[in-house]
Amino acid sequence: MVLKTGERAQLVKAKFKEIFGAGGGKITLVRAPGRVNLIGEHTDYNDGFVLPIAINQEMIMAFQPRLDNSVCLYSYNFSSSHQFPLDGIKYETEESWANYVKGVIYIFQEREISLSGMNIVLEGNIPIGAGLSSSAAIEVATAVGLQLLSGFTMEPVEIVKLCQKAENEFVGVNCGIMDQFVSLLGKKDKALFLDCRSLDYEPVPLPNPEHLRIVVCNTGVRRELSGSEYNKRRRECQEGVSHLKKRLPEIKALRDVPVRDFEKYGDSLPETIKRRCKHIVEENERVTQSVASLKESNLRRFGSLMNESHQSLKDNYEVSCRELDLMVDIARNIDGVLGARMTGAGFGGCTVNLVEEGKVERFQEIVKEKYWKETKIHPEIYILQAEEGAGEILNKTGEKR
Ligand code: GLA
Repeated sequence: MVLKTGERAQLVKAKFKEIFGAGGGKITLVRAPGRVNLIGEHTDYNDGFVLPIAINQEMIMAFQPRLDNSVCLYSYNFSSSHQFPLDGIKYETEESWANYVKGVIYIFQEREISLSGMNIVLEGNIPIGAGLSSSAAIEVATAVGLQLLSGFTMEPVEIVKLCQKAENEFVGVNCGIMDQFVSLLGKKDKALFLDCRSLDYEPVPLPNPEHLRIVVCNTGVRRELSGSEYNKRRRECQEGVSHLKKRLPEIKALRDVPVRDFEKYGDSLPETIKRRCKHIVEENERVTQSVASLKESNLRRFGSLMNESHQSLKDNYEVSCRELDLMVDIARNIDGVLGARMTGAGFGGCTVNLVEEGKVERFQEIVKEKYWKETKIHPEIYILQAEEGAGEILNKTGEKR
């Protein structure tokens, strides 16, 4: 049975009372969604363009202030607790989920935002380690909760930047800004066309789910994002910029290199660096073309841009893997699939597929059967919708729960 946000929020609140007692005043409930990137992969840290959606899989967190300076956490999913003092926050390898909460608190305090101790319960239905940004959702929910509890004002984009900083500096994952951005600023039924340099964004309407669905297939293979490959790609892109600067002195990032300039000067780059840069330069172009295709309701074009994106991530950027390629190949041979590609950092995780509504059931059957046959893994499949970004959970009359 799939529970709605309000029903889950009630369960979280009940758990909160069981763990921390019924007293202690108001409980503030916050939700923050995970994300699926439709196209624009590994472009965010190259100052480029992305087109993610916030999804209807989310973290729910309940907060209540304490009188001392302790933070007491309870994870509903792991049935485990963790406690730390506000003035002695340390990264710890056990209870690793707690580091995302700690990181945000640490960075906010570094900004001289004064916080009191608090009790927190977390619950989430974003699959962990599947590349759907469960960690960014914890960070964003924490930031929104801190803001509601302490009453400080801050621009949403500033909050996003602090959450990214928490992930970069406290957790130690050198991610771009996309995940935290869309988790806070995503829009219902829309994708977010985000310029990762200016942080200007435009919500782009998605096709009606009565006609076309966004279906995500989980390969069941998990690879650590903090692993060296992600950071290595970042360095390779930097190296590409240094080389290209000799011909194009005005560029600051790969975002500044148009496809035609790359065609002219790309050959001067070392072979691997050239392929990495080719992916980024062309992927940025694919994102802008995807936005145009969506606006013109040219969904076949959008689907083929998704297919091209996967091919490039596989051959040029080399962040795919056997299971992702298999999942994509299976999907592309199913009737009613307009486009299929890996989504997120890669090295495992999920694929995103555009599937005609009437063909979704058959799609699921075929993927499950064929993927199992080759890998002996039962894949999870999620039919997702674009949701609103993070915020406080209010009941239907608008009162706080
Ligand atoms: C991860 C990072 C993002 C982005 C993607 C790849 O999800 O957190 O910032 O770089 O990989 O597009």
